[in-house]
Amino acid sequence: MIILSKVSSLRDALETHRVSKLNISLVPTMGNLHQGHLKLVRAARKNSDIVVCSIFVNPLQFGPNEDLENYPKTLEADEDKLREAGCDFLFLPEVEEIYGTSMEEQTLIRVPGITDGFCGTSRPGHFDGVATIVCKLFNMVQPNSAFFGLKDYQQFLTIKKLTRDLSLDISIEGVEIERNSEGLALSSRNSYLTAEELALAPLIYENLMEVSNRVLQGERDFRDLEKSAIEILKAAGLHPEYFSICNAENLKAAQQEDNHLVILAATKLSICRLIDNIRFTLPQ
Ligand code: PAJ
Repeated sequence: MIILSKVSSLRDALETHRVSKLNISLVPTMGNLHQGHLKLVRAARKNSDIVVCSIFVNPLQFGPNEDLENYPKTLEADEDKLREAGCDFLFLPEVEEIYGTSMEEQTLIRVPGITDGFCGTSRPGHFDGVATIVCKLFNMVQPNSAFFGLKDYQQFLTIKKLTRDLSLDISIEGVEIERNSEGLALSSRNSYLTAEELALAPLIYENLMEVSNRVLQGERDFRDLEKSAIEILKAAGLHPEYFSICNAENLKAAQQEDNHLVILAATKLSICRLIDNIRFTLPQ
């Protein structure tokens, strides 16, 4: 695996492969890699000739009171994991390489509509930061495909829309959520949880499964189902931010006629904010 920190060397290194018509894929990450990230790298490995992974803790997508300073960094272990998963190039830029000296004057990409609710409400500016860095990485790497986790489902839809809206010739691939044996979606931020909190956290997925099963069995009072799930999570000591049954394409509140659905959940647990979702299709 070749490690590069400059955009110019990354472009040079990839140019020869592009000229040889090799298929290049990109897996953007913020590091502290776990099996969820590695699932993306393995999917990219399987589906392309050259796999580029980036590790960049993007300051532009963190709010003023968020965990930018404390974001877990495990670079050496990350490098070993990437080598083992078959990554060819690791792009590891410094903030200045990406944003120069004045991030405040960075041109921003804003993806309207899909970023409005959910994490867009509780994390103002977050998706502008994500869309902007992903767009910049797309321009630096110019991949044929890019791999994103479905755990961050609103992020995934945002990137799909940005790719479509800006006519980028990049295929956006979604990879299923990797969970621990209790069902908790893996996340770099799980390392903030105490043992007690780790034992509570799988309740989120349990409720997602319970509600999706009830909808699949014919229950249609979506708003009541949402309310009762929120009550259950609260009673267990979690602080749910949202638990919403939505149309899986546009994230609008699910209506009776919708058949591709997603249930989005975000919950606070001490300093940690956990997100998860489940997607399913109703029989016609
Ligand atoms: P990060 O949180 O490091 O996640 C990198 C990628 O891994 C994202 O596509 C995310 O959805 C995916 N991922 C995380 N946990 C996962 C899990 N349990 N199962 C499957 N995939 C999982 O998301 C970001 O970084 C950033 O916003 C980024 C896209 C890199 C832009 O800065």
